[in-house]
Amino acid sequence: MPPKYFYKLGHCKDLSIEEYFNLSRDVNYDTDSHWLIGHFDLNVNLSGSLVFGGEIFGLVSKKDDWGLIRMIENILDLLKEENPSAKKIGLSLPKRQQSQAIIEIAKKAGFKKINLPKKLPNFGSWKATKNWIIVFEFKKEFCVGKIKTFSNQEFWANLDQNLPHKDMEQGIMNLKLARSLLNLTKKEIIWDPFCGQGRLVASGIDLKKHFFVSDILPECATQSQINFERAKQIWQWGQKYLGIAFDLDVLLNTEVLDARFLSKSQNITDFREVAIVTEGYLGKNFQIIPTIAKVQKELSKLYEMWRQVILEADKLKIPEVIFCLPLYLRTEENGEKWIWPKFEEKLIKQTSYSIFSFRNKKLNILYSRSDSYVGHLITKLVLV
Ligand SMILES: C[S@@+](CC[C@H](N)C(=O)[O-])C[C@H]1O[C@@H](n2cnc3c(N)ncnc32)[C@H](O)[C@@H]1O
Repeated sequence: MPPKYFYKLGHCKDLSIEEYFNLSRDVNYDTDSHWLIGHFDLNVNLSGSLVFGGEIFGLVSKKDDWGLIRMIENILDLLKEENPSAKKIGLSLPKRQQSQAIIEIAKKAGFKKINLPKKLPNFGSWKATKNWIIVFEFKKEFCVGKIKTFSNQEFWANLDQNLPHKDMEQGIMNLKLARSLLNLTKKEIIWDPFCGQGRLVASGIDLKKHFFVSDILPECATQSQINFERAKQIWQWGQKYLGIAFDLDVLLNTEVLDARFLSKSQNITDFREVAIVTEGYLGKNFQIIPTIAKVQKELSKLYEMWRQVILEADKLKIPEVIFCLPLYLRTEENGEKWIWPKFEEKLIKQTSYSIFSFRNKKLNILYSRSDSYVGHLITKLVLV
């Protein structure tokens, strides 16, 4: 069966592919550059990392200019037939097809306002038109489709700006990364033992049933609770814009706890259905490029901390642990030569955990931003 749906992957391709797979269980997908084509119809707003997605009309050889034009012509007629009052259309086409001729074809089909940008559409242009035909290169062919869902930047900006607690000093996680982390487990009960201000919970109110959060700092419990209440209101408002329906009966329990002593938790009693999902503590938030000595010092502290956390998680038989370790992307002496933690294997020695191999066939997914000195190495442990 030919693939029926396409997706534009986010800046961290490995994370987008992992999320698509976890949400769809579609094993017959294929990828090329920043695109994925598959058999599962997914609202990209369920993910934290897919940019947009939609239905495929067909694949045409890259050499077949006429075939491509004919296909676009047919789609335009079809869209007009489906919605005779539609006046606007967006056409995201390869350079060769960005011509006056294609505008004439769209006009002939009955569209009055034709948006023919040089770049891929962003959320703003998607929102203005909603009707978007997209053509992109996929393994020597052109894939022609129509966008169905687009990651709603307005919703994420609203959530980001309106959470009452967002102390940058303490280090706050990108909300969409948080949502992606939650999608790396099917478990419905989540424990974030390094919760900070609770952004993991705020990012996935609709995804899970019950959140337990804890932090060594007492103020984090209160701040997470306040952020949770506000996030619930924003999700309630936002669900219709995201095209997601869900019940708001999600629960949150907070606790003050040193994660090195997980087994002292008073909140959780049955650990078998719980997954730990956390950004964790990435060490010192360097504002200037660190020296190698500083990085090594951070890494040995982090190793000792995670060794204790994972021993405790093992003692409690928590089935899955998803967490982030830092990957240092720049140092004073070595420029852009990366420094890896390299202690993951050592962390699970003497435990019943194994390190999960992701769709990228690696033991981690690197999530990094070009302006940052530290990247997140996403790691997943599973009980064997
Ligand atoms: C980077 S912040 C997490 C931020 C959170 N993901 C967010 O976006 O709101 C790390 C948190 O780990 C907490 N922390 C550090 N060491 C800890 C420990 N041993 N046990 C529990 N929490 C700890 C810090 O207090 C801090 O709130």
